[in-house]
Parts: sequence; structure tokens; C-alpha cells
Amino acid sequence: MENAAKRAAERLMGAKHVTVVSHIDADGVSAAGVASSALDHIGMAHEVIFTKKMDEAFVIKLKAKRPELIWFTDLGSGSTDMLEGLEGVISDHHKPLEEKSKAAGKNRRTLFDYDDSNNENFITVNPHMVGRDGGTDISGAGCAYLVARTMDPELKKLAWLAVAGAVGDMQDREAGRLQGTNREILADGENYGVVEVLEDLNLFGRETRPVWKMLQYANDLNIDGITDNYRGSMDFFMELDINLKKGETWRSWSDLKKAERKTVIASLAALVPVEDFTGEVYIFPLEKKGTELREAKEFATLLNSCGRYDAAELGMKVCKGDRGEALDLAFGLRKGHRKQLVDSIKIMEAIGISQMEHIQFVHVGDMIRDTIVGTVAGMLFGSGRVDDRKPIFALALADDGIKVSGRGTKLLVDAGLDLSEVMRQAAKALGGVGGGHNIAAGATIGPNDVNEFLRMADEIVGRQLA
Ligand code: C5P
Ligand code: C5P
Ligand code: ZN
Repeated sequence: MENAAKRAAERLMGAKHVTVVSHIDADGVSAAGVASSALDHIGMAHEVIFTKKMDEAFVIKLKAKRPELIWFTDLGSGSTDMLEGLEGVISDHHKPLEEKSKAAGKNRRTLFDYDDSNNENFITVNPHMVGRDGGTDISGAGCAYLVARTMDPELKKLAWLAVAGAVGDMQDREAGRLQGTNREILADGENYGVVEVLEDLNLFGRETRPVWKMLQYANDLNIDGITDNYRGSMDFFMELDINLKKGETWRSWSDLKKAERKTVIASLAALVPVEDFTGEVYIFPLEKKGTELREAKEFATLLNSCGRYDAAELGMKVCKGDRGEALDLAFGLRKGHRKQLVDSIKIMEAIGISQMEHIQFVHVGDMIRDTIVGTVAGMLFGSGRVDDRKPIFALALADDGIKVSGRGTKLLVDAGLDLSEVMRQAAKALGGVGGGHNIAAGATIGPNDVNEFLRMADEIVGRQLA
């Protein structure tokens, strides 16, 4: 990957103008922040374009701009068949089209095939090409970061954005910590003083949520009478003699003293396995304490609050250091996003999950925005309130058809599940587009193709898990 990053950096530095194209989620926005900051740093004229997905309509518009050189971040690898006539760099972690099955062994295309071939229009930095899993090894922002730090080692100061991207993509979810190439990026971040790694309680909201709210709303944790129970969670802290307030303001986890944190962790550990609520936590020490900017999960959520509501640009400005107007606007959007998520989970549960032989699905129509239906399905899936022995497919109405979001578990992936292939194959057969990762993937299909899509998905998953 480092070789590819070096060649990618050289190509970018030799351009006159670069068009950055990125994805709208937290990782895509972080990746664009990395790319744009790096291009600013080397004095390269550039523009940044965001897209929800790479489909024909978008690629036609992109080609019409006659871009000199494109830098795709957090997307591109799944769409190389559409890119004829364009050239540039792809720094992405989605499953590439070219990757032959791992079982095919030496038939699998490797990075070195890319290095050797002169007729490739794109230089690609992608973990799949060196046999790594793009779902956990490194994010889109991380891949962009590998390119940036080769332009100038000083750009290692952007490592925090690569960490935000990885956490935004939940690459720390299964192990409770980042893994693979992400660890090298963490080390850069620590060396440059832009990231601190703590082993601590890792529930969402450690900087900004009152502790009792953090516990009450802990999505991945189920403790009878405490989580999902406002009185119960307040009582839990009061029984431990922990003051919920300091003066007039609620105390967040980051406000608690070391000894208080220890007490809480020990008391929770008596109720649920300690690894369910602890793990690595990534702090951005240059940001203000008690704000959403200070910790990776909260920061990624702030970026999602922008990107998923047509304001990716705003999120990128925050990534690039705007702590004035852009940040204020982002904070505003954050409130709306929070409410949308809470409401949407309730809606999805009320509609109910339908069972097929190998998959389960829920069609939310226009009740949930297509840009967050995957997040909501993932949250519900991780909540323990739905059976997670089958992958879940959530469908929502989009302006160009039906958006499908699939989510699985590590257990299913280890058993052979590859949602990226399911989405790609089933969507392709119906004239749609799809792709992603083995554990999480998406597609867009025609409004009349839902039943056929689900039938095919059920069949493909059945084969994968057989
Ligand atoms: O487009 P992108 O690669 O940035 O997004 C990755 C997606 O995979 C995110 O929506 C993330 O929530 C999801 N994911 C998941 N569970 C995991 C890892 C990733 O739902 N264990
Ligand atoms: O949209 P959703 O959150 O369900 O996306 C899950 C994963 O699938 C993300 O990594 C996203 O980038 C990818 N995806 C894709 N092609 C699509 C839709 C989603 O690669 N058409
Ligand atoms: Zn990503």
C-alpha cells in the first residue's frame, strides 16, 4: 500500500488541478478533509465533490466536467468499470471489482499487478489488493492519509482524521479497538500529538452527554432497569455516590474523576461482561474538552450529521479546522440527526422485521431517509433486540429507486457471508448498482424489483453460508 501511495502522491503532485470525489458519510467526509488539507498544503488547485454513490448518472456528470486528474476517496474501487476516459488516484477500502475470490489464490490480482501495468488509468491504494479486509484494516480516510503523508511527512498531523474515519465506519466495533493498518496510523497520531489512546469505558457520548444519559441510551448495552430507563440509570450513579452535577451543569464521563470511573466500571462489570462496554477510546487532544470534537465517535457522528443531510461540505470544513461558522452549523445539524436516529429506530421496530430462509428484511418506505437507513439497521442489529443470526436488509425509498442497506456480524462473515458480493450480484442482475464490505454493504434497485432482489439475496446468502 505504501508503494501505491507513493506513486499516487507523485501523480497528484504533478497535476495542475485535482478533482477530489468523496462519499458523504463520516469516513468519506474525513477522507475529503485529508485530501483537501493535503492539496492545500502542497499548493494544488482543487475542488471537492461529494456523492452518495457512484452510479451512471453521477459518472456522466463527472465526465462532463472534463477533469484533469481525479482523486477518489472512500469510493471508486467498486466502480472501476465505469471510469473509462478518466484518470487519477483511488484511495478506497471498498471491495474492488478486480478482486478475484481469495480461493483463487494466485489468480487474485495484487497491487503488484497494478504496479506493473502501464495501461491502468488509476493508481489504487486499497487494502483488498494486498489481501486485507477493507472492513477492518483501514478506512477510506486512512487510505487517503497514506497518500497524504507521502506527499510530506508533516502531513502526519492529519492522522486524527484517518482515525475519525475508521471509527465512523465502526472498524473498532468487533474487537473493541482499531486493528491492522489503522494501528500504524494511530501510532503516527500519537507521535504527532494529535491522537491519544485510552483504555476506558467506550459508550457513546463520553465528552458531551451527562453520564446518566450516556448509560440510558447505550445502544449496544442491555441492563434491565438501567439502560433504556432514565430513573434507573440516574439511580445507578447516585447509589455509587457519584454527583450527577457540578454546579448547574451535568457531568459527562470525561468530567468524572479516575476513582469514580473505576467504581462505575467495576459496578457495571458485575452486571455485564466488561468487554461489552470497555475498549479503546480515541481522543483528539488539540480539541476542546467536553465538545464533540474531542473524541472520535462523537466527532464521526458530528460529520454524519452533516454528510447524510446534504451538508458534507460543512463537515469537511470542520475537518479542515473551521471552528467558527461551519462548526456552529454542524452543531445545529447534530441535534436533528440525533432525533432522526431515535425516531427511526422506533419506526423500524414498529414496522417489524420479516423473515426469509437465510436473511431478514424490513421495508421502511419513505418513513426513514435513505442516507441513514443503514445506520439505523446497524444500530437495531447491534441492540440485541433483534435476532442477529441472519443478516438484515433494510429498504427505503430514495429519489432514484429503492435503497437497500445490508448489515451482518463477524460471526456470519467468518461463516462465509459477503454482503458486498450479495449486493453487487443481485443489484447487477436487476440493472442496479451495489457493493461495499463483507459485513456492511448497500445497493440501489428499481421500485419494482424488491421481491426479486430479496429472493436473490436470500439465495446468494444461503449459498455463502452453506
Ligand atoms: O462507506 P463506508 O465504507 O464508509 O461505510 C462502512 C459501513 O460499514 C458503515 O456504515 C459502518 O457502520 C458499517 N459497519 C458495520 N459494522 C461493522 C463495520 C462497519 O455496520 N462491524
Ligand atoms: O449505505 P450503507 O450505509 O448501507 O452502505 C454500507 C456500505 O456499502 C458502505 O461502505 C457504502 O459505501 C457501501 N455501498 C456501496 N455501493 C452502494 C451502496 C453502498 O459500495 N451502491
Ligand atoms: Zn469508508
